[in-house]
Amino acid sequence: MSGRTQIFFTGATGYVGGAILQKLATHPTAANSEFTLLVRSPEKARLLEDWGKTTPAGGVKILLGSLTDYDKVTAQVAKSDVVFSMADSYNDDPCKAILAGLKERFQNSGKVPILIHTSGTGTLKDDAQGKFEGETIYDDITPDQIESLPDGVFHRNVDLLVLAADREGYAKTYIVFPPTIYGLPVGPLFDKNISNRHSHQIPFLIRAGVARKQGGVVNDGLNKWPCVHYDDCAEFYITLYTAILEDKADHGRGGNYFIENGEYRAYDLAKAITEELAEVGQSDKSTPVPFTAEEYEKTPMLSYFGTNSRCKASKARALGWKPKHPAEDIFASIRPEVRALLNIQP
Ligand SMILES: NC(=O)c1ccc[n+]([C@@H]2O[C@H](COP(=O)([O-])OP(=O)(O)OC[C@H]3O[C@@H](n4cnc5c(N)ncnc54)[C@H](OP(=O)(O)O)[C@@H]3O)[C@@H](O)[C@H]2O)c1
Repeated sequence: MSGRTQIFFTGATGYVGGAILQKLATHPTAANSEFTLLVRSPEKARLLEDWGKTTPAGGVKILLGSLTDYDKVTAQVAKSDVVFSMADSYNDDPCKAILAGLKERFQNSGKVPILIHTSGTGTLKDDAQGKFEGETIYDDITPDQIESLPDGVFHRNVDLLVLAADREGYAKTYIVFPPTIYGLPVGPLFDKNISNRHSHQIPFLIRAGVARKQGGVVNDGLNKWPCVHYDDCAEFYITLYTAILEDKADHGRGGNYFIENGEYRAYDLAKAITEELAEVGQSDKSTPVPFTAEEYEKTPMLSYFGTNSRCKASKARALGWKPKHPAEDIFASIRPEVRALLNIQP
């Protein structure tokens, strides 16, 4: 193995991971780093290899396979100094495979490897069903508040495994909690269709509206969520990574990093989507109409859009992260998103 920093990266073909990898590949340390990307598609693996040659890193290695190829993942992580986990925030077993590799790395080298794991502010969600604005605002400078979350909430199963690894001392762990991420990414990985251009929540609501020919909302849509532009989100991971290398970032219990640059109210987002859908002939009315009981039964995920998730990204800002896009930009992102999803010329 060379003396270069060994980085294992999952989710390179994803919306979040692609935006980060593009930036990481031009990080001042990239030329002294060796990137190994876990990729499922052989075709995308080839495209990523070609792209890698154009970056300061001079190339990327591919581990062809899935996160569920547990032994393969563990063996690669056991050779890594840094893991960027950008592919799965729900399942225990892929996380356990990564942690087993980190433990092996520590035992064999005596050096404590780094895990940057992606969770989500969905872990903070309540059951408001669109009927009220939540009162609790979580602040990541207060680990006690985060630790008050019940074990069974979204993402928490995986986050608890990650936190335990840090406590045991065989890895330094950093958990990033993105909120609603929006915007259509640009850059080589997106322009070449290697990485996914679409986020999750907004495209889901757009598709749900198209399917019922009417933009929808959960009850009154009084609930609130934080949001961040994809580029500001990616920039945070770079800020964090730089701070970790300079030994300036808290890890473990104090290493929970929310990301947000403001919030939006669910009704306002639903309204922006519905107006755009109406404009392109995909919604009967231009104001949102609440989803029905039958619709929740058929698509339980719809109720997610009636939850509150409220937080402050105090730790990210303390590290010097300066997001450029205010929360209102989420509304401006709807028009291009609708047109891109529906293949309509902007
Ligand atoms: N987008 C958001 O607004 C948002 C907000 C909060 C948290 N997050 C979290 O951020 C993470 C990334 O989300 P995203 O928006 O980038 O999703 P995405 O665009 O769907 O990308 C997911 C990435 O993970 C890879 N992946 C999934 N399962 C895999 C497996 N079994 N083996 C190997 N690779 C696998 C995908 O590879 P393929 O290309 O092969 O499918 C893809 O590269 C997720 O954990 C998500 O929960 C996202």
